Amino acid sequence: MNNFQTLIVKRRSIRHFTSQAVDENDIKTIVEAGLLAPTSKSSRAWQFIIVNEPELLERLSHCKSRAAEPIGRAPLAIVVAIDPSATDPWIEDASIAASYMQLQAADLGLGSCWIEVRDRYANDGTPAEEYVQEQLQMPETLPVVCILAIGHPAEERKPQAIEKLKWEQVHINKWIER
Ligand SMILES: Cc1cc2nc3c(=O)[nH]c(=O)nc-3n(C[C@H](O)[C@H](O)[C@H](O)COP(=O)(O)O)c2cc1C
Repeated sequence: MNNFQTLIVKRRSIRHFTSQAVDENDIKTIVEAGLLAPTSKSSRAWQFIIVNEPELLERLSHCKSRAAEPIGRAPLAIVVAIDPSATDPWIEDASIAASYMQLQAADLGLGSCWIEVRDRYANDGTPAEEYVQEQLQMPETLPVVCILAIGHPAEERKPQAIEKLKWEQVHINKWIER
């Protein structure tokens, strides 16, 4: 795909994947997009953990009580963590990098889904962040913001509906009460 507007209209969250592995060059291109993302004061404090072991993916899909299942169905996940002591807008920095990687994945014809980890809990009440840190033997000082489940789409989703965009939430020069 080479038209950015088409890309963002067509990008949808994909939660079902084929068993086909993601090509290594594509993984590199996706991670490069994360590493190219802008950060506050150029702090680049994120850490990306690439996961492609099926058993580990399955375990990560239990990091929270619901809505993490796509990880267990994906051939690839990228865990996005960041050092909050290095930058105060750490959530923003991590989120922008994750979004860049999702858009890059879409541009490569891959599907992805953001799985929220921060402030979420596993079935037994364990914080999802702690669960993921333990599975990946990560330091406790690195909060996990999200996990991107990535793979070849096994579902088709309609493009975004341009006619339903919330233009009523857009204001020019001053707040307009609607
Ligand atoms: C911050 C954030 C957290 C999300 N968390 C989850 C999640 O935990 N599990 C999931 O299946 N989808 C998750 N999503 C995907 C959203 O549900 C999805 O983006 C939204 O429904 C809009 O659909 P679309 O991406 O297809 O346009 C998350 C998206 C964002 C931006």
